[in-house]
Formats: sequence, structure tokens, C-alpha cells
Amino acid sequence: MSAPPVVDLPIEDERLAQDVATGLAAVEKLLRSSVESEDAFVTEASKHLIEAGGKRFRTLMVLLAAQFGDPSAPGVVPGAVVIELTHLGSLYHDDVMDEAPVRRGSPSANARWDNTVAILTGDYLFAQASDLLADLGPELIRIQAQTFSRLVQGQIRETVGPRDGEDPIGHYLSVLADKTGSLIAASGRFGALLSGAPADVEERLSRACEAIGVAWQLGDDLLDVASSGAQSGKTPGTDLREGIKTLPVLYALASEEPSRLRELLAGPVAEEDVEEALTLLRADPAMAQARAELESWVDRARTDISGLPDIPARSAFLALCDYVVQRSG
Ligand code: IPE
Ligand code: IPE
Ligand code: MG
Ligand code: MG
Repeated sequence: MSAPPVVDLPIEDERLAQDVATGLAAVEKLLRSSVESEDAFVTEASKHLIEAGGKRFRTLMVLLAAQFGDPSAPGVVPGAVVIELTHLGSLYHDDVMDEAPVRRGSPSANARWDNTVAILTGDYLFAQASDLLADLGPELIRIQAQTFSRLVQGQIRETVGPRDGEDPIGHYLSVLADKTGSLIAASGRFGALLSGAPADVEERLSRACEAIGVAWQLGDDLLDVASSGAQSGKTPGTDLREGIKTLPVLYALASEEPSRLRELLAGPVAEEDVEEALTLLRADPAMAQARAELESWVDRARTDISGLPDIPARSAFLALCDYVVQRSG
């Protein structure tokens, strides 16, 4: 299974394209050196998923946001690495929780080694992120702490499910904002802050990136149903197996009509039923409904982005919005 490639945005402006390419290369270098340990196994376990691939979507957002200030400011690259390490640590832990065997087209750390190694490597990555963050100052430290607190609470609320009487769709969308929107919003905010962009631009970028983050996770949920493993680098149907009711599932369950699909989706789907559930769900109108919700979040982001200063990075953010929509099918 191959890993999905790094996001390749069509950037027309040559200087911006060059800045982004230079930034991505610098982030890769620091990302790798930041996880080096005297213990060869710790380094190997940490580099496992870095080397497996990853789209570097959040890194790209930090770099684009930094264009609204001084993109060559010294904190921008370490800031992007802090975000990417936080993301990576959360993936090591998420694959333990989701019992996922494949990540970025390679065996997950829990599959290659075991849960203990995956959990501790995730913790090590968070520690290395904190070490880099310490040099960026208390404001950035607090933003990352609050972001990580939201991410973790989103993951907990996803696990626990809606409270009695709580609307499951409202619950689910707020989980997405917390578990995924928070870190993608922080990517925009880090880029703006570390480059010294004006405060109103920072707020607008953070808001737009949070909406993109919700759309990103909705796209991920659609791909869990609709894509092949080769496309996503993950095992399709993982959410169904884990009994995580993503938006297409919630829409499918909202219909009153008894059906084989509703019967299958009532709880975690048994391994022998996953293929049938996926086939039925792919053909269900719930998929188009979930896609429309994704597009509405991207539209919110586009509205905010349109109010940003008219520089090439603004067009790149709009192209990023198109990418988020196209990726989900
Ligand atoms: C995966 O994120 C987890 C989600 C929040 C959807 P990405 O889709 O950005 O994963 P990588 O970094 O490219 O592997
Ligand atoms: C992961 O959500 C979100 C975080 C890691 C915070 P998912 O469980 O849906 O993501 P994938 O599909 O495993 O990448
Ligand atoms: Mg998962
Ligand atoms: Mg999960």
C-alpha cells in the first residue's frame, strides 16, 4: 500500500512557490533531527511514520499563513515542526485507540511493534515538540497547550459519544472541531504569530483554518467509506469496525426506514459484514449529504480567506480549499 503524497498545490506565483518549497525542505530536516535520540530504537520508532509519508497539510498551512508577515522569521520553521510533531504523536496514539493496522501506507507503530511502543513513542514526540516550543515563548506554549487540550477532549468525547438527549450530529461536528479543527486552526495562528502578521489577520486565519480542519476531517471520514487503501494509505472501514458513527453513518441512521444498512450500522460492524456495509453506504444518499456539509465548511473558510490581504498566499489558501473538496471525491 503506498502512502498518499505531500499536498501539491498549484501555486502560480514563483516567489511563493519557491518560499513554500524551501520551507517544506527546512521543516523535513528539522522534523527528522528533532526526534534523534541517543537510543537507536527510540529514533527508529519515531522516524517510522515520518519516513512512511504524510501529506504535511498542517506544515503547508503554517508556511502559507507566515506569508502574511515575514515568512523568513526564525520561528516559522520550528513552529511548523512543533505542529507536525503534535499531529504525529496524536497519530501514534490514535492508531492504538482505533486498533488501526496501517498508517501512511505502512504498518502502524502498534502493528509493527506493539501498543506500548506506539504509546510511548507518541509521548516522546510530544516531549520533543515541547522542547522546540520552549524557544518560541510563553504565548505559543499556551496556544499549543490549549490546542492539545481541545484535541484530546475531542478524542475523549468521540469515544464517549453524545450525552442522553444530545443531538448526535451536533455532537459529532463539535468533536471534529476539537479533535482536528483545533490543530489546523493553530497551524494558521502559529504561521501568523511567528511571522509577525497583524492581529486581525491572525484571527481571520485561525478561524478559516478551523473551518478547513472540520472539512478536512469530514473528508477523511468520507474516504474511510469510499476510498481504497491505496488512496488513503489506511485501512478502509476502520471507523465502522470501531463503531465510530461518522457523519455519513449518522445521516444513514437518521432515516426512519428499516433497512439492511441501518441494521448493520447500529453498532460496531463485525469484520465479516464490513464489505457489505461499505458497499451499501457508498450507494446511500447519506454520502452526498455529508459531502454537502463538508462543502459548507469550506465555503465558510473561503469567506474568511476572501477578507485577507490580497497577496499570492491568499490565492494559495483558496486553492487549498479546492483541494480539500476535491480530495473527498
Ligand atoms: C489524519 O490527518 C488524521 C486526521 C485528522 C484526519 P492527515 O490526513 O493530515 O494525515 P497525514 O499527516 O497526511 O498522514
Ligand atoms: C484522528 O481521527 C484525529 C486525531 C488524530 C486527533 P481519525 O481516527 O478519524 O483519523 P484517522 O482516520 O485514523 O487518520
Ligand atoms: Mg483513527
Ligand atoms: Mg480516531
